[in-house]
Order: sequence, then C-alpha cells, then structure tokens
Amino acid sequence: MERIMKDLSKKIQYMKGSSVRALTRYCNNAEAKGKVVHKLNIGQPDLHIPKEYYDYLRSFNEQPLEYMPSNGRPDLLHAIKGYYHDEGMDFGENDIAITTGGSEALLFTLHALTNVGDECIIFEPFYSNYNTFFTLSGMKPVAVTTYAERGFHFTKHEIEEKITGNTKAILVTNPGNPTGAVLSSEELKMIAEIACENDLYIIADEVYREIVFDGLEISSFGLIKGIDERLIIIDSISKRFCACGARIGMIISKNKPFMSIISKLCQGRLAASAAEQWGAVGLYSTGLKETHLIRDEFQKRRDVVYQNLRNMPGAKCARPEGAFYIVAKIPVADASKFLIWMLEEYQENGETVMAAPAEGFYLTAGLGRDEIRIAYVLDCEQLDRAMKILANGICAYNQIQ
Ligand SMILES: Cc1ncc(COP(=O)(O)O)c(C=O)c1O
Repeated sequence: MERIMKDLSKKIQYMKGSSVRALTRYCNNAEAKGKVVHKLNIGQPDLHIPKEYYDYLRSFNEQPLEYMPSNGRPDLLHAIKGYYHDEGMDFGENDIAITTGGSEALLFTLHALTNVGDECIIFEPFYSNYNTFFTLSGMKPVAVTTYAERGFHFTKHEIEEKITGNTKAILVTNPGNPTGAVLSSEELKMIAEIACENDLYIIADEVYREIVFDGLEISSFGLIKGIDERLIIIDSISKRFCACGARIGMIISKNKPFMSIISKLCQGRLAASAAEQWGAVGLYSTGLKETHLIRDEFQKRRDVVYQNLRNMPGAKCARPEGAFYIVAKIPVADASKFLIWMLEEYQENGETVMAAPAEGFYLTAGLGRDEIRIAYVLDCEQLDRAMKILANGICAYNQIQ
C-alpha cells in the first residue's frame, strides 16, 4: 500500500480539541454496554424550538433555490434589526452579517482582526472552542484568571495588567460560558473605558444575552455609549430560541472597514443556508416570549444543581447568574480521570453521569484540574437524579483511591 509521508497541519495537530466532547467515546462504550448516561457535558438545550421555526420551514418553497446574499437574506437582516431596536440598540441592516452559527461569526471576526503577533485578552475559564478560532486566526489569547470565590468577576487592574503593546482586542462572554457570571452594566462600562484608553476592539459574545436569572437586568455592550467603532457583537439563535441545529449566527458592528472585511469572508463561503435563515425569520417573529420561558426553566434547573452542589461535601462553586452552566470544584485530584471512571466503572441501577472536565476551559496550565463543568440541560427531576449519582460516584471513587 502506498504510504503518505507528508505532514498534516502541525497547527491543527497541536490545537486543543473540544473538552466538551472529550469523553464521547467513553460515553459511547458505556451506552453500548447498556448503561443510561445522564449527559451534562454539552450546552445544547433539550427544550423545544418555538413552533414558528417549523411553520416557516414548511412554507419554504423557493424556486430556484439560490445562494442567498453573502451577508444574509434581507428579511432576516430586517427581523434582526427589529429585535435589536426593541432591545434599545439601533443597528442598520448593513451593520449585520449572517453566519453559520455564532461559531463562524467568531472565526470570521478573529480572522478579520488579526495580524501576526496580535493578542486578545480573554477571561478564563472560557468557552473551549475559542481555542480553535484563536489557533486558526493566529490571534494569541492572553488570560485574566477569574475565580469561583468572586463569582468569576474581575477588576480593572486585573485586565490592565495583561495589556501589552500587542493587545488588539478584549473578548468578553456575557453571560459567561462556563462560569454563568453575568456582568453588570457598570462592569461593561469599565471594560469599555479600558478599550478606549488602550485603543482596543471589544468582541462581545452575547449568545446567552437573555438567559439571566433572579430578575437581573440584561447588560449588553450594544447599550454602552461611545464605543460604536470598536464594538463587535457575536450573536446567535442557538441559545435564545433553543435552535442549536439551525446553525444561524451573526456579526454586528458599526465599524464599516471591519464589516467590509467581514463581507469578503462571507463572500468566500458564498452564503448561509436559505431555508435555515427563513426559519430564523419565523423565530424572530415570536418576539422573546418563548425565550423568557426558556430562561425561567433554566433558573429552576440552576437552583437544583446549585443546591445539590452545596450539599456535596468538598464541592465548591459560585451561584450562576445566567447562561446554563456551572463550574464546580469537586474533591478529586483529577476530574478528567474521575469522569472517565464514572463512565467506565460506575453505575447506580444501570445509570451514570457525564460532565465536561473543566481543565480545557483554562489557558493557564494546571488550572481547573479538579473542576467540572455541568450544563444543566436535563429537566429538574432528571437533573436531581444525575446530581445524586454524581455525589455518590465521588464518594465511591474516593474510597478506592
Ligand atoms: C459562548 C459561546 N459562544 C458561541 C457559541 C457558538 O454557538 P453557535 O455556533 O451554536 O451559535 C457557543 C456555543 O455553545 C457558546 O457557548
């Protein structure tokens, strides 16, 4: 047989894989052996997408089925402009580009900003797929470490310490994945001030914008004055409407040179799906009533997970203020090994639990080794059961160590 000798991309070979999917093969093996695995690893809501999405898809009958305009179908751009207007933010259709999920929005944004040597401030723990976008674009992430003890909030000084002559941007995920922290408008103003003082772009990943608990006000960089030219918002329908499979996201910015580079990238991949964009028009026609139901359900689940962790000897975590994740320190030395053991060795009435090892959400080596991220994407009853199995699993594991 002929052997291929040429190297594959080193850049990608050495890139960190998704920590959320790191244990999938162990899970598949466990399921093949008949175990029921409660999956708390992926941030994919189990709730229903509003019915208008499928109503619109059923009515979709465009002939011929053409490429859409690269920056997005006009009816969707119009709907998104309307949504932002209702939220108190005025963006024109030309300030919006539709992408294949928030993921492509992040990838295009980092490509559009990055020159060799550029650095981007980021708050760890952070959404681990950012690693892919940093690696592909060549942007170097520089982490400000945040801690559960302070609810994963941070000070101006902690950010300023990390700024160098190469800093190009600050990437802020608000509400936070995996932290569940929600920044106040005062905190956003503080970041905006730093960006203005140091001439930085702000990449505001607000895909969880409305998922905030306990009546907290929604804070968006789009509401902060005086940063129009430096602000890039990453948005998506995945979480707002429980529409992960639709793959529709967007980049929003009033910076015209930036948006013209984004247009070139959009043209390079031709267009996002015509039908999925039409389904998204259906979703935006519902307003936010379904989103508020989604938020309320996640708040109930947050309470179940948080209470269980509070009762778990040796566990430490902050009470999430939004999104649908929690990072918890658990009393094991290596959470990754423990989670594999849960899948391979442990079961309670044929059931076990999978969560994500949190180490992959940190840039700084060694951090997060005794932490897990739980995505509360099961109903309250199942979640409570899963948390009890997790607690019992930790006790059983520590007895054999
Ligand atoms: C913080 C954050 N940004 C962006 C994304 C990408 O979402 P999508 O590509 O589904 O829009 C996710 C997905 O989990 C996320 O958690």
